[in-house]
Amino acid sequence: MFSKILKWTARLVLGLIVVVLIAFGIFSFLFHQHTNKTYAVTVRDIPVPDDSATIAAGRHLYEIKGCGECHGADLRGKVFVDDPPIGRIAGSNLTYGKGGLPASYDNKAWLKALRHGLNAENKTLLLMPSEEFTRLDDHDIAAIIAYCKAQPKIDTPSVSIKIGPMGKVLSVLGKIPLFPAEHIDHQREQPNLVVKASTKEYGQYLSVSCTGCHKPSLTGGDNPVPGGVPVANITSTGHVGKWSQEEFIATLRTGKTPEGKQLQAKDMPWPMTAQYTEEELTALYLYLKSI
Ligand code: HEC
Ligand code: HEC
Repeated sequence: MFSKILKWTARLVLGLIVVVLIAFGIFSFLFHQHTNKTYAVTVRDIPVPDDSATIAAGRHLYEIKGCGECHGADLRGKVFVDDPPIGRIAGSNLTYGKGGLPASYDNKAWLKALRHGLNAENKTLLLMPSEEFTRLDDHDIAAIIAYCKAQPKIDTPSVSIKIGPMGKVLSVLGKIPLFPAEHIDHQREQPNLVVKASTKEYGQYLSVSCTGCHKPSLTGGDNPVPGGVPVANITSTGHVGKWSQEEFIATLRTGKTPEGKQLQAKDMPWPMTAQYTEEELTALYLYLKSI
């Protein structure tokens, strides 16, 4: 009797292991289909000036677009996810030092990464938010490239990206945005210059950087990071609708809301929004209040 139960338990456990292995095999297969897909794109070449005003504008964009969160403040690269089930994900060394970009990495290669989310083999970059950067105008994207190219070389060995079993499952299910190239209109013709002023139109342009977490509608919802706090609604129907312009600007600079809540930098990256100029925050406020 007892040995019969044992036998059945063993069969059951074995059966479960087989099911899990098959499911994992299927997810691995699907994952590789996403990462091995090659894209045929025509990269539109644009001039990249190298004067000091352009480089200064590029530095500001590097800060407010959060490049440093994933590539390091000095571009040396950074491991920003290190969790065995999800994986180890590192932003590349963006300098031309050892372990960084090859000397052959020209403006077209930069544009292909930033606007198409593709690497040198025309396969999707992993997790790099190019689906947001592809909406930047020619001036902004050229300034970012100019700034990065003007930085000193740093030698740091490149860290290879490794996606764990949970990371494969969640990315295949679309729960983590691992494949930017799939979410880009590769035919998009970006404007040469979006007028930078305290207007809601400029606010809409800037708000693309908020959509990765606050959703394209900016009404918030689930956190894109598994297990993260829910993301707030930042349209006029949320708290922001009740805040004055001064309160909005103070919140994005200090992380402290008029309701007295201290936003945590790991949830809401307010040290990044603190770097926005008065004009940029005003534009964002006007846009958010209008939707
Ligand atoms: C959420 C994190 C994240 C942010 C923010 C981010 N990147 Fe990346 N980026 C990555 C990762 C990860 C890779 C490596 C992807 C890969 O190798 O598949 C990458 C790759 C790149 C590459 C391609 C380098 C190569 O070796 O092929 C460039 C260029 C780049 N990023 C520039 C930028 C710039 C400029 C910004 C800001 C405008 C930025 N990134 C913002 C995560 C990020
Ligand atoms: C990395 C994800 C992420 C990005 C990017 C992000 N946010 Fe947030 N934001 C959050 C989360 C999560 C919360 C909720 C935090 C909490 O409840 O503690 C939040 C909260 C807020 C709040 C407070 C809302 C309230 O009702 O108290 C404001 C305002 C805000 N974000 C504005 C912005 C703006 C503007 C941008 C773009 C410039 C932006 N956020 C980009 C994740 C993000």
